[in-house]
Amino acid sequence: MAKRIGILTGGGDCPGLNAVIRAVVRHAHGTYGWDTVGIRYGFEGLYEEDHIDLDPHNTANLLIRGGTVLGSSNRANPFAYPLRLPDGRVEVHNVSETCLRNLEKLDLEGLIVVGGDGTQSFASRFLELGAKIVGVPKTIDNDLEATEYTIGFQTAIEVVTEALDRLHTTAESHDRIMICEVMGRYAGWIALTAGLAGGADVVLIPEIEYDVKRVVKSFHKRHSRGVSYSVVVIAEGAKPSGGKLAVEESGDATRQEKLGGAGHRLADEIRQLTDYEVRVTVLGHLQRGGTPCAYDREMATRFGVKAVDLVSAGKFGHVTALESGRVVTKPIELAVKKLKLIDPNGGLVAAARATGIELGG
Ligand code: F6P
Repeated sequence: MAKRIGILTGGGDCPGLNAVIRAVVRHAHGTYGWDTVGIRYGFEGLYEEDHIDLDPHNTANLLIRGGTVLGSSNRANPFAYPLRLPDGRVEVHNVSETCLRNLEKLDLEGLIVVGGDGTQSFASRFLELGAKIVGVPKTIDNDLEATEYTIGFQTAIEVVTEALDRLHTTAESHDRIMICEVMGRYAGWIALTAGLAGGADVVLIPEIEYDVKRVVKSFHKRHSRGVSYSVVVIAEGAKPSGGKLAVEESGDATRQEKLGGAGHRLADEIRQLTDYEVRVTVLGHLQRGGTPCAYDREMATRFGVKAVDLVSAGKFGHVTALESGRVVTKPIELAVKKLKLIDPNGGLVAAARATGIELGG
């Protein structure tokens, strides 16, 4: 029987996951003669023993397809797993030993875990328990310290930039303040990168608390120049000075809190200080759905190939990473220890300020 390699996709989906799966299957099969097992719904499939055989035929045409054909789950924390009891109650259990046993039964050369910080932190705990795992970083948030790039980010930027282009024309027609709330969790990469690309007038990010009076002053300045509309991008994790995160649903042991409401809160703050007409667009999961852009297809392919090579070399406990244009590897701890945030004194912020974008602080 041929040797086998495993792959799972965990956490929130993003464009480019299927392109990683395709690259892994093709390289494993074509270069090493290995079969590939796809574990379904992240670590849930490891617990439930839910997996499928992948081959170059059933993964053909995956390059352009959004989402993940393996399914994903952001409730599949094997160390705090919600188990439904026969009487309907849900109890949280540590099911990691069962997962480990099931992984051993699969007898894999190694398991490729494609995920963001949450999924990689579970991978890191399994590594401590002896599992043979390598990681591939993905998240539209681009917030993993280990790498300059995470799969999905550029597609999200394209979506937000197009939305900003569209919001500009309607803002101008109606002399309105258009607020666009974007994802990114506790980091402002999506907001600031797309804000630059989409010519936003104001960009509010978690790394810089905002003073609404400054924001309003920037609208007045534009009005005094005869420009009576403005486009504002606000990251879901942005906070007013001394204020709190806008949380839509609180988290628990099994899942992270869900952010939401920052855009509408800002609209209320602006309405209290001005009589401008304000509208809010929350882009939500549009930023995560659909076909990956060319760059995400390229990076997904390069990361997928590198991950298979890592398994072949027995270099477990590492994630693939982008550094100065090269695909390298980094210890998995770097993908989980701390988030990569925007440096308020760094180049991206400087470019925004230099081109007249108001950052609120
Ligand atoms: O981490 C990716 C992400 O899309 C964040 O930007 C966002 O806060 C979160 O996931 C949304 O999660 P869910 O899909 O559970 O609503």
